[in-house]
Amino acid sequence: MNEEQRKQTSIDVLAERDKKTKDYSKYFEHVYQPPSLKEARKRGKEKVHYNRDFQIDEKYRGMGKGKTFLIKTYGCQMNAHDTEVMAGILSALGYQPTEEIDEADVILINTCAIRENAENKVFSEIGNLKHLKKEKPETVIGVCGCMSQEESVVNKILKSYQNVDMIFGTHNIHRLPEILEEAYLSKAMVVEVWSKEGDVIENLPKVRKGNIKAWVNIMYGCDKFCTYCIVPFTRGKERSRRPQDIIDEVRDLARQGYQEVTLLGQNVNSYGKDIDGLEYGLGDLLEDISKIDIPRVRFTTSHPWDFTDRMIEVIANGGNIVPHVHLPVQSGNNAVLKIMGRKYTRESYLDLVNRIKSKIPDVALTTDIIVGYPNETAEQFEETLTLYDEVAFEHAYTYIYSQRDGTPAAKMKDNVPLEEKKSRLQQLNKKVAYYSEQAMAQYEGQTVQVLCEGASKKDDTVLAGYTNKNKLVNFKAPKEMIGKIVDVKVDEAKQFSLNGTFLGVSEKAVVTQ
Ligand code: 5AD
Ligand code: SF4
Repeated sequence: MNEEQRKQTSIDVLAERDKKTKDYSKYFEHVYQPPSLKEARKRGKEKVHYNRDFQIDEKYRGMGKGKTFLIKTYGCQMNAHDTEVMAGILSALGYQPTEEIDEADVILINTCAIRENAENKVFSEIGNLKHLKKEKPETVIGVCGCMSQEESVVNKILKSYQNVDMIFGTHNIHRLPEILEEAYLSKAMVVEVWSKEGDVIENLPKVRKGNIKAWVNIMYGCDKFCTYCIVPFTRGKERSRRPQDIIDEVRDLARQGYQEVTLLGQNVNSYGKDIDGLEYGLGDLLEDISKIDIPRVRFTTSHPWDFTDRMIEVIANGGNIVPHVHLPVQSGNNAVLKIMGRKYTRESYLDLVNRIKSKIPDVALTTDIIVGYPNETAEQFEETLTLYDEVAFEHAYTYIYSQRDGTPAAKMKDNVPLEEKKSRLQQLNKKVAYYSEQAMAQYEGQTVQVLCEGASKKDDTVLAGYTNKNKLVNFKAPKEMIGKIVDVKVDEAKQFSLNGTFLGVSEKAVVTQ
């Protein structure tokens, strides 16, 4: 069945339900709305609407009674948080969570489009589900997240993955009840992906993973359009949530006993700029949140271009804002930074780092780096290594450049062989390991404050948690310590973690170490 036929079948099935309706357009709009990267690039001039009255229609409430769901999540924290929202919606519909994929009545694959290998993993996952769908045809399989915002992906799924029942985009999450209902009724694949973002929707239900740490979106989308990046296409234009909505959410989390929040956005430094007449930025938001009685506040991710002195000042004040800044540099060479569209230079980046270090002497700096950008020379790569030495980052996430359809970089010819890119990544990773080890070694013999999260993944007789600078610490302690900030004396520093002796509940809940 081709796309046209599939679309028509969908519409017919729905129209059949309501014979009196001659106007199929309302079905068409919901049943088949494929994405377009070109459309997604256009930034809407229309004002963003803030929908505070969102409610799940009563008629859907019993839909999931006696049924179960499972969501597989790929990618960043934003996606992980979207999964919490989808879990919230599904629970409100009456579905129960399950860990057993064979038992799930609804399976959602929340996808990541940032690099090709992330996409390949998803395709093999969807492929693996073909078997399950054959055995249990009543299972509803949905694909959502960033990949579903890409035309090429949707076309590939329509063509080769008939086991998928529904595809919906990052802007359509709140319509999950309607999309699900259509998937139950329609024999064809239901596709609903709005290329352009719509409203900011408040009070969506959420089922958070755990009750110790929480993610809080402060803004959606990205307008930076770095030339390699698909995110501005898949996540839409920058839309900040209103300060009061964020503050209320953090207050509520504090009341519920959460110990840590991470403020999320693709570029949190742009916070507030899209709201007309609002003279209020991330610095102001951090300051307001620092007054809330919650021990730890993180934020991610910061673009170096609009990191202000005001933000540095607020972080330097300490309190519950942790002294950890994740500041993706991507490259240490000016020519590469320019074609990446990063809007800063090596010198201005280093200047920012120096300003941060001088105001926040105990700061932990981490970064993201891409190697093997199209036509990156050995000398240009060398400058990334020297920049790493100059900053001495405590950790870095490193990637080989991956071509993303529809981005400006995808049109560039590339003369760097893959083998060379792999070798550069290896060289860089050696440096990352060296500086991580150095940063860890400083803790030996010191007492650190650890937010105890639960049993260690490797050994369930040991508890594990993170310091305010995000260092993983393993230690033996009574289970009652889970969810508390405790003092641990570090006995041994490893490359990416610390082992220590539990001393007791920390006297200072808020720590700047
Ligand atoms: N190829 C490789 N890495 C990428 N990133 C974003 N897009 C790409 C791409 N096309 C990396 C950047 C970013 C991090 C989240 O992912 O380093 O900071
Ligand atoms: Fe992508 Fe650049 Fe936006 Fe980060 S700032 S999400 S790298 S476009």
